[in-house]
Amino acid sequence: MPTPHIEAKKGEIAKFVLMPGDPLRAKVMSEKFLENPKLVNKVRNMFMYTGTYKGMEITIAASGMGNPSMGIYSYELYNEYGVENIIRVGTCGAYNKDYRPYSIFNTKDSFGESQFAKIVTGKDEAILPASKQLYDAINQTAEELGIPMLHGRAHASDVFYRSDDSLKLAQEKHLDVAEMETYALFANALRLQKQAGALFTVSDNIVTGEVTTSEERQTKFVKMFEVALETALK
Ligand code: ADE
Repeated sequence: MPTPHIEAKKGEIAKFVLMPGDPLRAKVMSEKFLENPKLVNKVRNMFMYTGTYKGMEITIAASGMGNPSMGIYSYELYNEYGVENIIRVGTCGAYNKDYRPYSIFNTKDSFGESQFAKIVTGKDEAILPASKQLYDAINQTAEELGIPMLHGRAHASDVFYRSDDSLKLAQEKHLDVAEMETYALFANALRLQKQAGALFTVSDNIVTGEVTTSEERQTKFVKMFEVALETALK
């Protein structure tokens, strides 16, 4: 400590971490929700803030985009900083035409299309589960807060601009939403025997073409942070 990618000192990262992909969302959400947020990492502008939420120490740490980036940061957080729980809080595209923008989705499992899990766990599994304990706690929290929650399988896609028929793949593999980071997060959690979950707000619908504006996203993506923070208190 510090690691090649994180300059935080020992003790500056909480045991419970929320990970948005976007460094600026990590900053804005830390300033909104955490008491006394302290910037503990700015290497590569991958901002990480530690503060307290209702008395509990929490870190909100950006992961960057894609499985390789999430793979680096989640590994170092779990393995070098002793983090026990990570909830990814991100955006996703919906493969289900009935999923409207701003719906919130709790990931039961993640479908990956890379060698990431094979390389880190030795097992060639395309589908990796979220930690049951966190998955259940997220569902329970949402129910208590009266926030409707969708559930299912995330496609941790390695390619944003695809030229294959991703809707056909979604049908074949029972994929509900597309994002780009959960496969690496879940693989690292399995390897290191840690807890991992993933919550998304639907930002676009891949079937209907419905999209959200960046202005709307700033305010309306707040709910999933509330769910993740209240889950941390359990
Ligand atoms: N994140 C948000 N929308 C996405 C999409 N359509 N594909 C992959 N990741 C996404």
